Amino acid sequence: MATSSSVPSPPGVSAPLLLRSLGAHLESGHGLVALDANDRILVASQEARQLLDLPEGCDGHRLGEVGADYRLLRVIDACRHAEAAVEREIADPGRLVVVKAFPVPHKRVSAMVLVRDETRLRRLERVRRDFVTNVSHELRTPITAIRLMVETLEKGALTQPEVARQFVQRIALEVGHMSQMVEELLELSTIESGDRALNFESVSVNDLLSAVDRLLPLAEERSLEVTLDIAGDTPQVLGDPRRLGQVLRNLVHNAIKFTPPHGRITVAARPRADGHRVELRVSDTGIGIRPEDLPRIFERFWKADSSRQRDGEGSGLGLAIARHVVEAHGGSISVESEPRHGATFIVELPAAGDEAPVPPPSDADDDDDGEEAGTPFTTP
Ligand SMILES: Nc1ncnc2c1ncn2[C@@H]1O[C@H](COP(=O)(O)OP(=O)(O)OP(=O)(O)O)[C@@H](O)[C@H]1O
Ligand SMILES: [Mg+2]
Repeated sequence: MATSSSVPSPPGVSAPLLLRSLGAHLESGHGLVALDANDRILVASQEARQLLDLPEGCDGHRLGEVGADYRLLRVIDACRHAEAAVEREIADPGRLVVVKAFPVPHKRVSAMVLVRDETRLRRLERVRRDFVTNVSHELRTPITAIRLMVETLEKGALTQPEVARQFVQRIALEVGHMSQMVEELLELSTIESGDRALNFESVSVNDLLSAVDRLLPLAEERSLEVTLDIAGDTPQVLGDPRRLGQVLRNLVHNAIKFTPPHGRITVAARPRADGHRVELRVSDTGIGIRPEDLPRIFERFWKADSSRQRDGEGSGLGLAIARHVVEAHGGSISVESEPRHGATFIVELPAAGDEAPVPPPSDADDDDDGEEAGTPFTTP
């Protein structure tokens, strides 16, 4: 393939040279293509080539010859016709590129195309929109319920002490759900902002599991049997006991919520074969999770349809928080489940005695759920 040297250069500083250095200084995610009157590429910056799928060494060739996308050709045609700037989106699965073509009154350069990658920006916009929708939805249900109960009380139910007492109890319950959700949201944003460091220490699995003690009465109330199964050679874990306790509590609380009476919940711990990691498993014999739901389970606000119907049971934030916390420890969390055959959540954490964990780099774009991962905790 010919290179830009095949384009004859005018004397002095050539336009392509100027444009090339301009292209090299554009921000990342931005590219530039300059064309002559025959749609021959004078310069295509590296970013532009990537974003528009143009081959390396395309300079000096016509756009049509190098397999340029028809939508790009149309934008350029439109700008030539209109003799004005024309901007369009080129959307492909997983990528959104905005191209802006404008005519250039120059004897060699006849049109320029600025290209920018808007994939991430659009995804963030969608995440923010979904977030606001979800928060409003989650708040609307309890607020409506509270309003109705207050109205009924005002209309006379206050004079019926038994009815009034029930309503006030329901109101207190709804307020409790709302404040739990607000707390969870604050927790998530603190985690994501990386403001609060993790307090790493060596902690025994026994100590970690004591965090679930306070859920045992609830399990008993629902006739569920909870068994702890800690292998004798399980090493200590390197982590923040408070945060990890919170993760385990959410997993066990979920197991309690989604297991019908007389089911079993097992919390097990054992060392991984390499000895550097500890595996914690929370299994239940409950309703399980549909295969199509498994990839979404750690998204914030995600709830299975069946749990969505039970308003007030939770806001779908617990597992999102759990994932952030575990990953900030350099660990991982996963789930195995079959509908009606229970679910098992597997948390892997670094064993104490190893190097301090390095949290994975925050990369919101890796989230196929479209959720922004944010910056994990900073290690002390
Ligand atoms: N052990 C489980 N068995 C079956 N489904 C589960 C289990 N754990 C979680 N789920 C499903 O995943 C959803 C998300 O769980 P998550 O812990 O994030 O939220 P939640 O428990 O609904 O609310 P929150 O934890 O914020 O109070 C649940 O609503 C439920 O549909
Ligand atoms: Mg939960």
